[in-house]
Amino acid sequence: MFLEVSDVTGGYDKAIIIDSISINVEKGEFVSIIGPNGSGKSTLMKTIVGFLKPFDGTISFKNRRVEGKSANKIAKLGIGYVPQLNNVFRALTVQENLEMGAYLPSKDRYSYSELYDLFPGIKGRDSEKASNLSGGERQMLALARAMVNKPELLCLDEPTAALAPKLVREILKKLIEIRDSGTTILLVEQNAKQSLKISDRGYVLAIGKKVHEGPSKELLNSPKIQEHYLGIKKVSVID
Ligand SMILES: Nc1ncnc2c1ncn2[C@@H]1O[C@H](COP(=O)(O)OP(=O)(O)O)[C@@H](O)[C@H]1O
Ligand SMILES: [Mg+2]
Repeated sequence: MFLEVSDVTGGYDKAIIIDSISINVEKGEFVSIIGPNGSGKSTLMKTIVGFLKPFDGTISFKNRRVEGKSANKIAKLGIGYVPQLNNVFRALTVQENLEMGAYLPSKDRYSYSELYDLFPGIKGRDSEKASNLSGGERQMLALARAMVNKPELLCLDEPTAALAPKLVREILKKLIEIRDSGTTILLVEQNAKQSLKISDRGYVLAIGKKVHEGPSKELLNSPKIQEHYLGIKKVSVID
């Protein structure tokens, strides 16, 4: 298995936020994690990428145990991460932001010109301060920064939050493109419906527990999921 999270319990200090969660991702897959606000999606993601140590359970990436390893070490094994908050350095330029993300020798990562070609929205903006970018451009920069080391697995935490619908579509289209070029994707999304539409499989979290899992199509078509997690109201039949 490519990424295997088994019975992971974790949180902050002693507070258990995610409770015995198991998820897995196969190489080449596009997997979504959805669930209401506060259900533990970001906590799970931070635990996978090494910003939080799990209290219990195991996490394996390419058959190597990684739970408890530093975020730095986990990144070097081939996991890219776009955090939900503060995912660019606003006081630095676009180019400096990309340089901050690049820690592999240049032969093992994308060159900056390759990255600007991959993310045309930030092309030509290299000496611009990140604080001058629009919300959509900043998310593209965060994505570019996470891609610089050619990660095998890209983990994204709500990359479309607070963006206008057109920009949401643009970011999601970019993710499909990244997946199609061979990068495995694990996506946490608030835009649950759109996320399920473009992913292979999905997991649903609620109050720190995994409550559903399955092919994205099945989740999208399930009346129970539609009603509780996708904001689609059941049509009541009055006789
Ligand atoms: N740094 C933190 N310290 C303590 N509790 C936190 C922290 N961050 C989040 N929490 C709590 O963890 C729970 C889940 O949060 P989070 O994982 O961010 O959910 P989601 O990403 O699904 O919205 C919430 O109840 C939140 O208050
Ligand atoms: Mg979150």
